[in-house]
Amino acid sequence: MKNIAIFASGEGSNAEAIVRYFTDSDKVRVKCVLTNRQNVGVHSRMENLGIQSLYFPKEAWTDGNQIVEILKQENIDFIVLAGFLAKIELPIIQAYSNRILNIHPSLLPRYGGKGMWGHHIHKAVIANRETESGITIHFIDENIDSGSILFQAKCEVSPDDTPDTLATRIHALEHKHYPQVIEQLLTK
Ligand code: GAR
Repeated sequence: MKNIAIFASGEGSNAEAIVRYFTDSDKVRVKCVLTNRQNVGVHSRMENLGIQSLYFPKEAWTDGNQIVEILKQENIDFIVLAGFLAKIELPIIQAYSNRILNIHPSLLPRYGGKGMWGHHIHKAVIANRETESGITIHFIDENIDSGSILFQAKCEVSPDDTPDTLATRIHALEHKHYPQVIEQLLTK
């Protein structure tokens, strides 16, 4: 059994899709969710699913060592970022080298880097009249959105899209593919 920890900062729809996908798995188990935000949707989603969501303040994420301690205590093998909007510091990257996956709501390397997250990306994609966007699942390294890419999927962008309609299409792609990519990686 591989134990995963999900890091999330917001609504937690990807975290929920992943938890549901692995509910009956005998190979992969979501052990806990770690967050850097209080009062966000991911806490109630996890409560409903019976998964513990643990909040840590900014200092703990900036230091990193306390987070590594918790991950070790929980016997975590692999980390999955799902809408996690803080930097992953070196102690965590070193402790989980090549074992941290992120999902990004654009076709990296386009629309990646500092300030490019969530709706900011969808707004920029629409403003630039792109005809396609998509999702990227990639490993984490010390820089933002630059680790090696494992998987991408595309969707159309239509001229009458708004950031909300595009976000809905992107979320559907994420919920479909992210759990499957995690499964393939952890059970091969
Ligand atoms: C997702 O679309 C995810 O790709 C994005 O935030 C959203 C979180 O939704 N992540 C980033 O932009 C990271 N750079 P969720 O909280 O409902 O899973």
